Amino acid sequence: MIDGDSSEYNFITEEIQKLKLDPVVLTCEIGLRRGLGSKTIMDAVISQGVEHYRHVAIDPYGDLKYKHYDDKDPYVCDYNDQMRMETVRELYKYKQFAYFEFLDEYYFETMKKGYPITINGNVYLKETYNVVHLDGPHTSEAVHNEINFFASRMTDNSLLIIDDHDTMKLQSVRWFLKKIAFEEVRKGERKLIFKRST
Ligand SMILES: C[S@@+](CC[C@H](N)C(=O)[O-])C[C@H]1O[C@@H](n2cnc3c(N)ncnc32)[C@H](O)[C@@H]1O
Repeated sequence: MIDGDSSEYNFITEEIQKLKLDPVVLTCEIGLRRGLGSKTIMDAVISQGVEHYRHVAIDPYGDLKYKHYDDKDPYVCDYNDQMRMETVRELYKYKQFAYFEFLDEYYFETMKKGYPITINGNVYLKETYNVVHLDGPHTSEAVHNEINFFASRMTDNSLLIIDDHDTMKLQSVRWFLKKIAFEEVRKGERKLIFKRST
C-alpha cells in the first residue's frame, strides 16, 4: 500500500501544477519509503500531459543504519526489503517510474553526466531535473551534499523540495539557492519548497 510519513503533499501537487514543464521531464525523490512522495510527484506531472517523462526514486532500504537527524546517533528504522518489494511493485505500474536500490551518493557518482532516457529508439542524456524531493536522511550535511549535486542540474523552471526542514541548519543552503535564482515559494511545518523561475 502506498503511504506517506509526512504531511503537506498537497503543496507538491499545487506547485507542480504551476510549473511550465519541458517536453522531456525528469524528476527525482531521494528516500522512497512507502512511496507517497514519488506517487504525488508522478501524478502531478502526468496530469499535465507531458509526453516524455521519467521519475527516479533512490532508496537502499535493507534496514539501513544511518544518521536520520543532526541531534541523533545513527539507528535502524523499519525501512526493510519487505517494504521495498511492496512499494516498488506498486509504483512500477507507472511506466515513468525508475528505481535505484542504493545510496544517493552512489547515484550522484554514477549519474553525474546525466540520466539516460530512451525516446523513439534513441538514448537521450537528460542533464537537468524539473522537480527534486529531498526526503532521505534529514541531516544538514546530507541535504547540503544533495543540493551540491542538484544545484547545477535544475531546469530554469524547477522545484526543490526539502522535507522536515525544521530539523536542520539551512542558512547556507538558503543563501546558496538565492544566488542561483531559487526563491522560497512554500513553507509548511514539514515541507519547504524552493522554485527557480529564470
Ligand atoms: C523519511 S523516509 C522517506 C519518506 C517518503 N519520501 C514519503 O514521502 O513517505 C526516508 C527514506 O530514506 C531512505 N534513505 C536513507 N538514507 C538514504 C540515502 N543516503 N540515499 C537514499 N535513500 C536514503 C530510507 O531507507 C527511507 O526509506
